[in-house]
Amino acid sequence: MAPTSKLLLADLASSCVKQIPSNYIRSVSDRPNLSNVQISDGSTIPLIDLLGLNGPNHFLIIKQIAQACQNDGFFQVKNHGIPEEMINNVLNIARKFFKLPKSERLKNYSDDPTKTTRLSTSFNVKTEQVSSWRDYLRLHCYPLEDYIHEWPSNPPSFRKDVGEYCTTVRGLVLRLLEAISESLGLEKDYIDKKLGKHGQHVAMNYYPPCPQPELTYGLPGHTDPNLITILLQDDVPGLQVLRNGKWIAVNPIPNTFIVNIGDQMQVLSNDRYKSVLHRAVVNCDKERISVPTFYCPSPDAIIGPPKELINDDYPAAVYRDFTYEEYYEKFWNRGLIKECCLDLFKASNNSA
Ligand code: OGA
Ligand code: NI
Repeated sequence: MAPTSKLLLADLASSCVKQIPSNYIRSVSDRPNLSNVQISDGSTIPLIDLLGLNGPNHFLIIKQIAQACQNDGFFQVKNHGIPEEMINNVLNIARKFFKLPKSERLKNYSDDPTKTTRLSTSFNVKTEQVSSWRDYLRLHCYPLEDYIHEWPSNPPSFRKDVGEYCTTVRGLVLRLLEAISESLGLEKDYIDKKLGKHGQHVAMNYYPPCPQPELTYGLPGHTDPNLITILLQDDVPGLQVLRNGKWIAVNPIPNTFIVNIGDQMQVLSNDRYKSVLHRAVVNCDKERISVPTFYCPSPDAIIGPPKELINDDYPAAVYRDFTYEEYYEKFWNRGLIKECCLDLFKASNNSA
């Protein structure tokens, strides 16, 4: 690809365009309809305090997690054990990375979704019809020593700070996976063992200010293809979650993380836990940074429900057998369209 076609959104947006280019404009039926979005009031999306997870409140917290996973697919966590300084560091590094000169950022550019360290723009520039108002840096980060040498070395503390962050977030994920296993009535280490070789990716999403936010998305509605996602966002609203057919804005609460169930957890739980549609919208005035951590099964893992979760209420496995590798490739190549990728893997769907 010619270097000139590697155009990042940050460079377009910083030139103060008054109108967005036509490739970002969604059709009228596919726009965010921002005036019709419900604002969350702090309790709309359950906020779970993890402080007592190993104490006397253990069973209460497990129950809260079970309910949130079943009813909402999303919850927020506080007292998660990740220091405030580490959170601020990683957000600052992301902010600084996207302010680096173009030539420096482009060192990591790739539009190949299989690359383990890459900067790109929108979602999948190779296959998509309409662009999204986002640049992103995506890094594989577990096992850390396999990937950290590929990462940007600018800003200078990037590898150290982001590496520590990834390791610490992994600790939180492992605690949540134990709690979620327990909430499904399974042995604590059930999910851990089921994943095969664990995988972890972190993304830094950069959403520049947008002169016409009502015409485009930062990320259109999608469900996450992985097992579970731990999202860190800065203080600018943008994330919206679909509930009962209505979009709800999840406004940031400092020092909390947003946890959402991904498609593989829905499969593993045999549809008890929900991988819910969500999207990111943009705004006229402020750039926005989000840093999701995606926790994944091994590419060759076959994720399916344990026999304990096949019973009178759920008499058969809802999805056919597939490897995570097969699923992930489908996710990246079909684009972010509203119908969940999972539908293609239903046991009753012969077309997959
Ligand atoms: C994602 C995602 C939401 C956000 O990267 O999968 O849903 O607020 N991001 O950036
Ligand atoms: Ni997502």
